Amino acid sequence: MKLTLSLIKADVGGYPGHSTVHPKLKEKAREKLSIAKETGLIIDFYVTGAGDDLQLLMLHNKGVDSEEIHKLAWDTFVAATEIAKSLGLYGAGQDLLKDAFSGNVRGMGPGIAEMEFTPRKSEPIVAFMMDKTEPGAFNLPIFRMFADPFNTAGLVIDPNMHDGFVFEVWDIMEHKKVMMKTPEEMYDLLALIGAKSRYVIKRVYAKESNPKLKGEVVAVVSTEKLYQIAGEYVGKDDPVALVRAQSGCPALGEVLEPFAFPHLVSGWMRGSHNGPIMPVSEKYAKCTRFDGPPRVVALGFQVCEDKLVGPVDLFDDPAFDITRQEAAKIANYMRRHGPFEPHRLPLEDMEYTTLPKVLEKLKERFEPV
Ligand code: F6R
Ligand code: MG
Ligand code: MG
Repeated sequence: MKLTLSLIKADVGGYPGHSTVHPKLKEKAREKLSIAKETGLIIDFYVTGAGDDLQLLMLHNKGVDSEEIHKLAWDTFVAATEIAKSLGLYGAGQDLLKDAFSGNVRGMGPGIAEMEFTPRKSEPIVAFMMDKTEPGAFNLPIFRMFADPFNTAGLVIDPNMHDGFVFEVWDIMEHKKVMMKTPEEMYDLLALIGAKSRYVIKRVYAKESNPKLKGEVVAVVSTEKLYQIAGEYVGKDDPVALVRAQSGCPALGEVLEPFAFPHLVSGWMRGSHNGPIMPVSEKYAKCTRFDGPPRVVALGFQVCEDKLVGPVDLFDDPAFDITRQEAAKIANYMRRHGPFEPHRLPLEDMEYTTLPKVLEKLKERFEPV
């Protein structure tokens, strides 16, 4: 039997400001998803918050893009928005950009990562949740998991994955995609995904020659671009991802290893700054300093046909203390630039801020030089 894991998230109100999710929102979401579990619509679920985003992880067998599952997520966000409004939470309903559900939450504001797969004998999966950054923030870690032998020893020494993986890369400006093989096309792939605000890794597939996974999807990232949906700035996308581990895939530790490097991502304060991504436990998934620094949470599950076993809060581990300290140091260094690039994002990324208005105001005063 095929299983589907859907991770759907939205910011439907922050507490206080844009820092965390109020417990009552999570409570409401659990209540809604428990009913869906009782009626058999979903097999199991896990609800949490990452920064100001409410996260719904649902196990079911309706496939990806299922209207029923998306409607469940939408209705859950609507119900949580009601609570957010009653508590006066900040930006209540922020990511629900359309008034009524019309078959799919794609393009309506929430972020979605879902995959349908044939479960292996044992199926370890990691759900990653980032806040205060954009989908391209996953490019570097996902590349390193599935294509960098200095990260993933298995690429060299596990015969199952020695042939490499296939990357599905989206051009999120032109709405096009391209499939690229590694290791064969590694340099071409890097040429694209290094431009992380435009070319984003959407999915990774095992090659057909991988005996454990035979061409199946092994990773998926949410790639919604909120500002393209709303037509104006309504916050960064705060992406999520699902990654399968072990047995033909990178080992759990190879999936987590890229996060030992707090790489620079864009987002942070007002979605307009570069800063380090800090791997944290659920407890510390709250954006404080300068509305950040951007955070990533990793929750590990064993996925069974009849239940989700977990989570294990994987960054709740002293092994990542040094990364957190390094991230805090880098945050300090970046902050000292104030409104200067490369802390502040380059011009093309500032299109949805006051910058066009400043230029408009000064238009008449610009003289030829
Ligand atoms: C970034 C983010 C925050 C807000 C900032 C201003 O993704 O959510 O940094 O941009 O707190 O928020 P407003 O404009 O709502 O006062
Ligand atoms: Mg918010
Ligand atoms: Mg957020």
